[in-house]
Amino acid sequence: MGRFEGKVAYVLGGGSDGPARPGEELPMGNGRAIALRLASEGARVVVGDKDRDRAEATVAHLRTPGLAVEVDAADPESCRAAVEEAVRFGEGRLDVVVCNVGVSGREPAKVQSLEDWDTANDVNVRSHWLTAQAALPRMLAQGQGAFVFIGSTAGVLSSRRSLSYEATKAAQLGVMRHLAVRYGGRGIRSNAVALGNIDSALVRREFGEGGAARGSVVPMGREGTPEEVAAAVAFLAGDDASYVTGQNLLVDGGVSAAWPTPPNAPA
Ligand SMILES: NC(=O)c1ccc[n+]([C@@H]2O[C@H](COP(=O)([O-])OP(=O)(O)OC[C@H]3O[C@@H](n4cnc5c(N)ncnc54)[C@H](O)[C@@H]3O)[C@@H](O)[C@H]2O)c1
Repeated sequence: MGRFEGKVAYVLGGGSDGPARPGEELPMGNGRAIALRLASEGARVVVGDKDRDRAEATVAHLRTPGLAVEVDAADPESCRAAVEEAVRFGEGRLDVVVCNVGVSGREPAKVQSLEDWDTANDVNVRSHWLTAQAALPRMLAQGQGAFVFIGSTAGVLSSRRSLSYEATKAAQLGVMRHLAVRYGGRGIRSNAVALGNIDSALVRREFGEGGAARGSVVPMGREGTPEEVAAAVAFLAGDDASYVTGQNLLVDGGVSAAWPTPPNAPA
């Protein structure tokens, strides 16, 4: 029996728009890897994405029956409608909601634009609470439900690159904790993962090749993989984490545990 047998999950941002890793047939992003992992353990998965083709590509690779839903995270009505579709697909059930969608940026404080700030807020935070708000009545009626928010180490440490990204990833943790504390007594758990350097389609798209260099600053000496992200999410979403809530699990190969040292410092 898989950990998610009989359960229904919704992954917001469950496509992946490449590029693929060398030799990879299906470009693997975090959202897609999470959907595949939950399905591999028995969940029926609804994959929401603004690009229907990408969502369908994920669904086509699920082990269990799934549904692709077109959703624009920047549009509140679309966020709510997607949850309704997920509940319909689950014939009234919705057990796990993973809010993965997120946009990064490259504007430090001096040049931070209002437009980039608003987009980051709409997609990285507002869509997540609206999705959670739409899912809560169903989960509360069931007496159980789990949220997992996909965050970044940029929510707890400055990457010095993007003010809007850092600020919204920190705000996302506030949403995660609020749900955990407010509804914890009614069977709802809410947690986040803060991702470090992951060899995902998003990173290859935005930062190009150079995975070895990115990995070299990580205590574990390498980037993480979307599959490793998915394993952490599956833990938090499932009953193995039945007494874990309100937490931000750093999936970063040890970056946040390290004191910065110059490369040629004596050991
Ligand atoms: N190194 C990393 O990979 C890393 C590090 C830190 C945090 N993260 C977080 O991981 C998450 C995304 O990872 P991914 O690999 O799945 O990225 P991805 O770029 O593959 O995005 C997943 C999907 O989100 C969809 N999407 C984008 N904007 C959307 C919108 N407005 N509405 C609906 N769907 C939309 C895209 O079409 C894509 O298919 C983000 O929350 C990001 O902040 C990643």
